[in-house]
Amino acid sequence: MSAPSSPSTDVAAGHRRAPSVPPGFIWGVATASFQIEGAAQEDGRGESIWDRFCATPGKVWNGHDGSVACDFYHRYPADIALQRELGIDAFRFSIAWPRILPKGRGRVNMAGLDFYDRLVDELLASGIEPFPTLYHWDLPQVLEDEGGWTARATAEAFAEYTEVVVGRLGDRIHHWVTHNEPWCVAWEGYGSGRHAPGRTSQRDALAAAHHLLLSHAFAVEVIRRDAPQAQVGIVLNIDHVDPASASDADHAAARYVDGFLNRWFLDPLFRGAYPADMVEHYGTDAPPVEAGDLELIARPIDFLGVNNYKRQIVREDPNGGPPAPVYVDGARHTEKGWEVYPDGLYQVLVRLHRDYSPRALYVTENGAAFGDVRQHDGSVRDPERCAYLERYIGATLRAIDAGAPLKGYFVWSLLDNFEWADGYSKRFGIVYVDYPTLERIPKASFFWYRDFISAQHRPAHPGSIGSS
Ligand code: GCO
Repeated sequence: MSAPSSPSTDVAAGHRRAPSVPPGFIWGVATASFQIEGAAQEDGRGESIWDRFCATPGKVWNGHDGSVACDFYHRYPADIALQRELGIDAFRFSIAWPRILPKGRGRVNMAGLDFYDRLVDELLASGIEPFPTLYHWDLPQVLEDEGGWTARATAEAFAEYTEVVVGRLGDRIHHWVTHNEPWCVAWEGYGSGRHAPGRTSQRDALAAAHHLLLSHAFAVEVIRRDAPQAQVGIVLNIDHVDPASASDADHAAARYVDGFLNRWFLDPLFRGAYPADMVEHYGTDAPPVEAGDLELIARPIDFLGVNNYKRQIVREDPNGGPPAPVYVDGARHTEKGWEVYPDGLYQVLVRLHRDYSPRALYVTENGAAFGDVRQHDGSVRDPERCAYLERYIGATLRAIDAGAPLKGYFVWSLLDNFEWADGYSKRFGIVYVDYPTLERIPKASFFWYRDFISAQHRPAHPGSIGSS
């Protein structure tokens, strides 16, 4: 078994050196509407599949839901003040479709648009670039009732939604993300059922994945037409996959997992075709592709966003089942059980550049959940998260040195928030949220990131990783 990371590939653990951060590089934090906003019943917001899922017994840890979350909907000015203190260049957030079109299509809810309008203006007034994602998993429930992402009509509704949002905010947005992690939407939502809407069918998952990609393509067309000056991209969750041993069978298992998770989305987006080995594997469950879909999906985008937290190590299942994940004893893991493996991010970025040549890359999410607690003096010390961020940022910078066209890096997340099926039990924030009072307490990692960014912004003295 390979060690968690080797000293030669771990910048932070080794020598310090000035990183090659290109001019204009964006340092940011990332969030998502359902995870932070709350105000689920306010100002005409429609029901989303996550409201319904949370209300279904047994689906979300301890019955938690998004009705209040971090109350960002009301507290965003204070949260933007925190961002100013942090010194970030950009704030990644998502727009809740059910706030804009409560019935999924048709009637526009002006109060919903007004909220994002205020948010964008407040960010701009603070010198922070708004970096919105159009879809981070909160589908209007009415659309799910009509088939959700397994229905082609949902992709058409997404184009309509995009048109409305871009019509209102397009004059102030330079970077649009269409989708966040279509793999999770398709496979967690329609395959394993761990996420909303909780369906469990491979066929549905594959149909959903195709319609997500198609809706991305439709949205790109709308943005190119209505906001031609803006950059547009998509965010994928990409993991580096290692075989558990040198055996051919474990290599085949790793290739399968790479196909399932990574190539199934990368190949159509960058090569206009689903990977042949996986199409063969899925057989009659393969998705309903219509003539012209793949050409549309493969139209060039301006950037690819990568969400990465961990790597995967897999071995063949001798009984012929899907490859089994391997847990590395002795490696460091976060509260999610994810292996801390910065070199995996480096490998992913370099591989994407080599195999798919995206015009630009962003690390749109990276971070860690730990069991943070407040000290007697009220502070929150999270040295493990500081170390995690330092090492993963080091891996990102090494990928720049290796030629990958990195343009920015976003920490997941600004605030502790609703971690999907885990409810509020997993804290990813660099700001602690005391849920009973909603008080925000910047953790030590907040101050670490603030000092790191400030060193990066000093032109004459680029900060070295590990300085602060
Ligand atoms: C995802 C989402 C985030 C998560 C984060 C931690 O990847 O699941 O984009 O919403 O909260 O990744 O799991």
